[in-house]
Order: sequence, then C-alpha cells, then structure tokens
Amino acid sequence: MSSSARAVHQISRPQGFPTAANFAFVTEDPPSLRDGTALVENIYLSVDPYHREGMDGEWELHAPLEGRAIGRVVASGDARLSVGELVFHRHGWRTHALVRPEEARVLRPLPGVPLSAYLSVLGGTGLSAYVGLVKIAQLRPGESVFISAAAGGVGSAAGQIARLLGAGRVIGSAGSPAKVAHLTRDLGFDAAFDYHDGPVGDQLRRAAPDGIDVFLDNVGGDHLEGAISALRDHGRIAWCGAVAQYNSSAPPPAPRNLYDVVGKSIRMEGFLVRNHRHVQSELEAFAAPHLRSGRLVPDETVVAGFDRVVDAFLGMLRGENTGKMIVQVGEV
Ligand SMILES: NC(=O)c1ccc[n+]([C@@H]2O[C@H](COP(=O)([O-])OP(=O)(O)OC[C@H]3O[C@@H](n4cnc5c(N)ncnc54)[C@H](OP(=O)(O)O)[C@@H]3O)[C@@H](O)[C@H]2O)c1
Repeated sequence: MSSSARAVHQISRPQGFPTAANFAFVTEDPPSLRDGTALVENIYLSVDPYHREGMDGEWELHAPLEGRAIGRVVASGDARLSVGELVFHRHGWRTHALVRPEEARVLRPLPGVPLSAYLSVLGGTGLSAYVGLVKIAQLRPGESVFISAAAGGVGSAAGQIARLLGAGRVIGSAGSPAKVAHLTRDLGFDAAFDYHDGPVGDQLRRAAPDGIDVFLDNVGGDHLEGAISALRDHGRIAWCGAVAQYNSSAPPPAPRNLYDVVGKSIRMEGFLVRNHRHVQSELEAFAAPHLRSGRLVPDETVVAGFDRVVDAFLGMLRGENTGKMIVQVGEV
C-alpha cells in the first residue's frame, strides 16, 4: 500500500468557466482504518458535469470532494468488506478513501467487461441513458430518437441503447467532425451533426425530415428549442442535463417555443439518476448479453495519472472526451 495519499480540494469559486487555479492537490497520510470502515485504494475516478454545479456552492472549500470512484479494499475493519474486493463508492477525487460498507457496492465484473465500464455504460452515465429512454421517455420500437451531447458518456450509451431497444432513426449532435463521424461509424447512429455548423433546429430538420418521437436532452438551450420544433404530436422529452448553461449565470436564450409543448401534447420530464438507483440491476441484466456479444461497447476516454484529474475534468467540460471521461489512478 502507498505510504501517502493524495486528494484534490476546491479552493475558490469559479467565475464562469473553472480553471486549474480553483483546485489544489493535497498530499496527506492515508486515512487510518477504523472499525466499521474499509480502506480503499482508488483505481478509477469519474469526472462529471454535475461537479461543475457543485463548485458554485454545494462543495465546501478546502475539503475533500465527492465523486464516483472504483477502488480495491486494501484493509478492512468490517466483515462486510474483504481485502481484495473491488468496490464502487462516492469518495472520489482522491487516491485513498475510508468507506463504510453501506456506502460501497461490491463489484463482481462480468467476464470480458472492463472494470472502467462500471463508471461508463454500467455506471451513472449508462444508468442515466437507460432510465431516460426506458423509464422517462418510454421509447417504443420503431420510434425516432434525438440525443444531444451524443458523443459523451450519457449520449454514447443512449445511442447504443436506443438502437438495441429497436429505435427507428437515431440522431445525435456533437461538437466536432471527428465526434460526428464516430457516432455514425462506430456507435450505430443513423445521422449526426456538429452543432457548430448551423442552427440546431435546421440541422435536426435535415437529419430527421419526418420528425422525432423522443428527445434525450443533455444540453438544453438551442438543442431543446430545435427538438421541440422537430417533435411529433405526443412526443416525449427526457431532460437529463443542460451542459450548455453550467458555466454561465445568465438565463439561456432558448427555448423560445416552449408553448409548442402544449400544442403538440409533448410530455417533458426531468429526472435525476440518483432517484433511480434501484434500476441498476435491470440495466446490468439488459446490458450484459449485449456487452458479451459486442453489440454494446463501453465508450470511454481514459486519462492516466492522479495529476491529471483536474485537467480531465476541465477537458470534459470543453468536450475533449469521447464517451465517458474517466481518470485511472491505480492498477486494475
Ligand atoms: N439527470 C441526471 O441525473 C444526470 C446524470 C448524469 C449526467 N447528467 C447530465 O447529462 C449530460 C451529459 O453528462 P456526461 O457525464 O455524459 O458528460 P459528457 O457528455 O461525457 O461530457 C460533457 C460534454 O458536453 C459537451 N458540451 C460542453 N459544452 C457544451 C455546449 N455549450 N453545448 C453543447 N455541448 C456541450 C461536450 O461535448 P461536445 O464536444 O459534443 O461539445 C462534452 O464532452 C450533462 O448535462 C450532465 O449534467 C445528468
């Protein structure tokens, strides 16, 4: 076991887009084991858009941060967690964590599935995609789906899951030509566009001339406006996130057509994945055969080294990731 532990603390509140100066790397002794806890050495850390929201006030300054993580138990003071076991927990942004059994989920990785998948397609992002499509939008076979931020963690899982659920046309938007090519070439999307290339509404109309039935929104603003225009009567919006507005305190200029939700009898429902954790086993049962057959692939950008946690987080906000942004900080 390492003789020292490292953690990232937030040390100031960002004005607009965060910078590395909002964070500090802190070196300390590994936490001492107490009865009823286990000491976990982290292997993979998740950096997520919701961390940007936490930075504005929810997160205490000069204190350990929270975040999804996967690690290995290296010492245990509780019979429910054994040395060597792999666990999922929420004490991220650090190399070592003291975890109580009720805060941890023991992982028994499916053969052939990389451990990191428990932070991507089998993690919170995959669960968000599954819940959004299955529970919120109640996607039916043959229906057309539009997914925003489609080349990210939630989006790349959602596109593949929609395809496996028998969706008709699957359309995605993303922020670069390379991501657009990845969506149609590697992830089974029928059409994709770069939202920098013109108004989202116009591009979506070209990609889905017959309209869409379901919109899984990760972006908000102009994407939501474009989707409301493209949705057919009785369409559904599963509103997952609004990444376009997390770095701004100004209200978004769009959607200007919100009232069309009434005229088209659209159902729009926001959701938080933390209220749907009970769906995890259903996601795993659904995903397992497809992961084994290769019809579902964990789409990930894995950055190596604890030193790069903050860079990975800022890079994810800038769109440097394809698939789920994950930081590897220990050996599997
Ligand atoms: N409701 C929930 O419980 C829940 C759970 C998980 C995630 N979410 C939400 O789901 C969304 C995606 O999360 P994720 O973890 O999968 O992150 P992600 O999509 O892997 O990463 C964020 C992506 O956002 C895109 N982006 C950044 N600024 C943008 C802008 N101004 N306009 C359009 N796209 C922009 C970037 O891709 P491009 O290169 O394509 O711009 C970037 O890669 C976020 O809104 C997040 O808050 C919600």
